Amino acid sequence: MSEFKTVRGMRDFLPQDARTLRYVEAKTREVAELYGYREIVTPVVESYELLTAKAGDEIRSRMFTFKDLGKRQVALRPEFTASIARIVATTLRNEPKPFRLFCAGSVYRYDEPQKGRYREFWQSDYEIVGSNSAEADVEIILLTHRLMRAVGLWRFAFKIGHIGVLRGILSQEGLDEKVQNSVMQLMDKKRYEDAFDLLTDGGISKRAADVLRSLIEIKGNSPFETVEKIEACVKGYEKSAEAAANLRKILRLVVDSGCNIDITVDAGFARGLEYYTGLIFEVYVPEMGTALGGGGRYDRLIELFGGEPTPATGVAHGLDRIMLALQGERADTQTLKRAVTIIPLKEELRSEALRISEMLRNAGTPVEIEVMGRKIAKALEDADRRGVSHVVIVGERELKENAVVVRNLAKREQVVVKIEKLAKALMD
Ligand code: HAM
Repeated sequence: MSEFKTVRGMRDFLPQDARTLRYVEAKTREVAELYGYREIVTPVVESYELLTAKAGDEIRSRMFTFKDLGKRQVALRPEFTASIARIVATTLRNEPKPFRLFCAGSVYRYDEPQKGRYREFWQSDYEIVGSNSAEADVEIILLTHRLMRAVGLWRFAFKIGHIGVLRGILSQEGLDEKVQNSVMQLMDKKRYEDAFDLLTDGGISKRAADVLRSLIEIKGNSPFETVEKIEACVKGYEKSAEAAANLRKILRLVVDSGCNIDITVDAGFARGLEYYTGLIFEVYVPEMGTALGGGGRYDRLIELFGGEPTPATGVAHGLDRIMLALQGERADTQTLKRAVTIIPLKEELRSEALRISEMLRNAGTPVEIEVMGRKIAKALEDADRRGVSHVVIVGERELKENAVVVRNLAKREQVVVKIEKLAKALMD
């Protein structure tokens, strides 16, 4: 008998990888709890019809599908959102809104296997059902930010857009929804010229084509500047203008939340899934080039499945890719630094250093404390070697003022920070 191997695209997780996967998964659950998302467990096998309803050609063509022994056309789930929408449209139909649901598990896509792209992979999925407010969209972004931080990633960025900006123009031009979907698929792959060929065949006006071209090229120095340019560009396209205003509102709320998030607005951004109607976003680690998570608003999917018209927004994170990003972080601690080390300047200050370290851990900051009794210069050298991002130096003079010194090892800068503001200062 020939030697057995895993099926192409499928992997074993040996103890170390299994441990990391479960660690990341445990963090996704902690975040779910922190934001009030209740976990549900849905089947791996669902009806083909359900999963393909609004999946988009890309995912549709990559589904593991087969007839079961009862001759039903079924498929392995390529994501969770369709299953959750099914539950909302049926079993949870009468549940008071809003409610928040969370899922974690394996999903399946017949993608071309490569680093970070597998045929069986793991997602955590968060959906908030019943709210059309921008706050709900912002919550999904904030919890994604928190998850990235919770697993130990410090350098990641968000790309955001609004599907309504592009669709608003296409709808006003009377373009059929099927053609719109194909255009979005091409835009998602950055195949803009093919998208424009389709648009020309679909008979859109030269003016609309020009507006779309300028939208794709918009760049701004800040997210707000980009939105301003989008607003100027779509004048006369009512739905697109509404979408841009909604995007501005979401951005404003993210900034007002006090959470320091790295965001780029991309007007030509589209996603492969067809169900989106509003905000869309992805989160990246710049070094990796692939998304660690993505999501957005889908206000019409639940009614498509026979439920009441119900607005909803959500996100899914790729746990395998988060694991890869964590490995990268360990391998390259010079560019991706994380933990904080606390160093007391004198023996008598050790209890104060312990107290501050516990306070920071309570605030969710990973902290190591100097336990070798070394002099400051040696302790700093060691922290630098281990790729620590910040050192908190507890000294007598600053303590009298209820403060400590925070030293940024990468930038070789230091500032005095009040202890009550320390956790926040270390997050930024
Ligand atoms: P998605 O962008 O298709 O969105 O997938 C979410 C994440 O799954 C991606 O950002 C990526 O990290 C990971 N992923 C996708 N394909 C693969 C693959 N072949 N191998 C490894 N990881 C992969 C959704 O699935 C939507 N259901 C998100 C959502 C929820 N939208 C609203 N609610």
